[in-house]
Amino acid sequence: MTMKIKLNDIATFKALMSESSKLYEEAQRVLVGGVNSPVRAAIRPYPFFVREGRGPYLFTVDGQRLIDYVLGYGPLILGHAPEQVIKRIIEYIYRGWLYGAPTEVEVALAKKIVGHFPSIRKVRFVNSGGEAVATAIRLARGYTKRRKILKFEGCYHGAVDYVLVKAGSAAAHFGAHHLPAFLRMWLS
Ligand SMILES: Cc1ncc(COP(=O)(O)O)c(C=O)c1O
Repeated sequence: MTMKIKLNDIATFKALMSESSKLYEEAQRVLVGGVNSPVRAAIRPYPFFVREGRGPYLFTVDGQRLIDYVLGYGPLILGHAPEQVIKRIIEYIYRGWLYGAPTEVEVALAKKIVGHFPSIRKVRFVNSGGEAVATAIRLARGYTKRRKILKFEGCYHGAVDYVLVKAGSAAAHFGAHHLPAFLRMWLS
């Protein structure tokens, strides 16, 4: 049965996500801040823990099915675990997964992206949004020879010092608006 629930109602959230609460307690003993990215701790009263994702849905460890409007902050445009992507991942995983050296598929993917966007001449692949932001800042500073960057208050752009100031991250919620959020997390 599908039920519309208001997850911003704390009492409803706690009633529906009790397994997540236990896991969050355990997590705080072994993970810094109980999460591996400060934004994940921003959910009140605690983050829900995901067991799996299928198509447009997330299934939490509490057995709740949620519509996922976030979709990995963008890259999951086909939804969670689409068959065609699973097949390709399996195909490639049998060849190994870490070489520290360039591979053919990177070139093929870069060609595909460049071919689809007239404004893009070259790409640099990185492992996370934070790394992409740090790389973009370095590139812009190197090219323009300017030091300052404009950062919108309350926005999160990854665990990079320059952009954590007044970020909408968990630590910012603790009132640490003037400290880089990650520092506050380590100090608390
Ligand atoms: C706009 C923006 N930039 C950067 C990031 C950081 O991405 P990652 O967690 O992959 O480092 C995020 C993540 O929420 C983001 O929303």
